[in-house]
Amino acid sequence: MEAADRQSLLSVRGVERSFDVGNSKLRVLKGIDLELQTHQLIMLKGRSGSGKTTLMNLMGGLDTPTKGEIHFRGQPFHQWNDDRRTEVRRKDIGFIFQAYALLPLLSAYENVELSLRMAKTPRGDWKKRITTCLDMVGLAKRMHHRPFELSGGEQQRVAIAKAIAHRPSLLLADEPTAELDSQMAAQVMTVFREIVRSENVTICMTTHDTTIMEVADHVYEMVDGVFVAG
Ligand SMILES: Nc1ncnc2c1ncn2[C@@H]1O[C@H](COP(=O)(O)OP(=O)(O)OP(=O)(O)O)[C@@H](O)[C@H]1O
Ligand SMILES: [Mg+2]
Repeated sequence: MEAADRQSLLSVRGVERSFDVGNSKLRVLKGIDLELQTHQLIMLKGRSGSGKTTLMNLMGGLDTPTKGEIHFRGQPFHQWNDDRRTEVRRKDIGFIFQAYALLPLLSAYENVELSLRMAKTPRGDWKKRITTCLDMVGLAKRMHHRPFELSGGEQQRVAIAKAIAHRPSLLLADEPTAELDSQMAAQVMTVFREIVRSENVTICMTTHDTTIMEVADHVYEMVDGVFVAG
């Protein structure tokens, strides 16, 4: 992907986030600036407690900043209420969490179907899209398995299929490889690189794994609520 083909996707400017804890304020993010463009694989690293998840929650519109601005495709998330952000999130953002977030009683197919339902994708498009997404993560043959009938890496790959099915332009993944062995983690990263290339998506993920960081377009390092030069 040529840099010239990229467009601005998410802009975080001067963002601070504090929490009230007892009678005092805990300042977690202390002035974050970050720009995401389309077709990128971006990583956040930093010690436990440095504020990575807090920032991801803001980027995905799950939370709003104490100070500063967040624009997602030009839309001012920092000014919008929950309902308005939720609507954008369901259609245009995908999430992957450390522990896969699959519904245990649903098959791989039905889990992926759920995000199309939430995004109000026309029902007639579901079957093809679900099959395509499960195929993309190498699980076409496991479509009707339920999570407990899948390995950890396979479950994480279903979670990826579920997170991208509704064609989000941003995929946020918080430690998506933390529970996987190095071979499975490498598989997940291969899928990530492939979907950044083939789908119109930018992935922003957190990780502690330095070997994984080699495939990133850019790595941001968070120390105590601010970015330091990596
Ligand atoms: N809702 C909250 N209320 C109070 N404090 C919070 C809240 N959410 C996060 N914190 C605090 O903010 C700090 C940063 O937390 P965060 O989860 O962002 O860290 P992290 O970088 O993701 O760490 P890890 O690598 O362990 O996942 C922590 O000290 C945490 O206790
Ligand atoms: Mg975290």
